[in-house]
Amino acid sequence: MLKLYETIDKLEADGKLNKEEFVYLLNNMSDSLSRYAIEKARKKSLAYFGNRIYIRGLIEISNYCKNDCYYCGIRKSNRNARRYRLSKEEILSCCRLGYDLGFRTFVLQGGEDPYFTDDILSDIISEIKKRYPDCAVTLSLGERSRESYKRLFDAGADRYLLRHETANEAHYRKLHPENQSLKNRKECLKALKEIGYQTGTGFMVGSPWQTNEHLAEDLLYIRELSPAMVGIGPFIPHSDTIFAGKEQGSLEKTLFLLALLRIMMPDVLLPSTTALGTIHPKGRELGILAGANVVMPNLSPVYVRDKYMLYDNKICTGDEAAECIACMKRRMESIGYEIVVDRGDYKKGVF
Ligand code: SAM
Ligand code: FES
Repeated sequence: MLKLYETIDKLEADGKLNKEEFVYLLNNMSDSLSRYAIEKARKKSLAYFGNRIYIRGLIEISNYCKNDCYYCGIRKSNRNARRYRLSKEEILSCCRLGYDLGFRTFVLQGGEDPYFTDDILSDIISEIKKRYPDCAVTLSLGERSRESYKRLFDAGADRYLLRHETANEAHYRKLHPENQSLKNRKECLKALKEIGYQTGTGFMVGSPWQTNEHLAEDLLYIRELSPAMVGIGPFIPHSDTIFAGKEQGSLEKTLFLLALLRIMMPDVLLPSTTALGTIHPKGRELGILAGANVVMPNLSPVYVRDKYMLYDNKICTGDEAAECIACMKRRMESIGYEIVVDRGDYKKGVF
């Protein structure tokens, strides 16, 4: 077995490690090892992207969900969730506002809400593309059929985010009820890539019962899938779920994993997530400094913000989009980075 630091050098040189090597790194994570990985990762992202941070405008279109993921605050069994869904007009006015603020990507995210049929979504997507042809539309609406993904792609959707959540079958079972399966999740990701979406996946760090072996499997799965984007953030408990009393994921481990991902896939799009900003006041800045290169400020109307509560204490719930983007610009500038107005497409090896 290689020494710890050499194992990170090997990840950099080969763009991969085996499971045992990833577990070895994760089991021996320390401040100095993490610093070593983070410095390498930051250099990589600067080499590939410069100090330019891409922004994606997140529009949380519905918190109705037919699924019951045990960790999620908008799971269908949460009777305390105050449900809402945005109309086509509301979504379009978020895009208008976002466009004027400099956003060129709109991410429509929501629970798995059966109201949003292919017809309804196709109509909304094609209208956004008609009004803003220079913008990318990203969807993050969970598991749908291959036919549905194809129809939405044909309507103009460019990208799709679907975290695999955990690549380990037994662990997946502990986080989800019987009717949800890792197999289907992976099939969805495969279909999305085949259809031609720029596809994103990812996982939570520190979800209940997660082990370093599981995380190593996540990294191997991601390497094999080779997605355009990888979204990771700490698990944060929600008080109205059965995971209410569970421990939250750690800042240090999330940063270490961001760094490993950046070293493994130097040109991947890597968001510094809201969850990271929730567990630490400077979480998103630290994420950028550990190799992330994307932020996703919230464009949802303020009157629904506090209803899209995936976990407790979510940040940015009281802020107007304009304040949020201004705040994000200041945050990025404070660490020497700048936000760019650009679709920020995933172009392998070419920036
Ligand atoms: N319904 C879509 C889906 O399942 O992909 C999109 C919305 S879902 C709420 C977005 C992501 O939120 C999930 O992929 C999950 O990783 C994350 N999430 C949910 N509950 C969370 C929690 N308690 N802590 C941190 N992240 C959470
Ligand atoms: Fe949203 Fe600061 S980034 S308020």
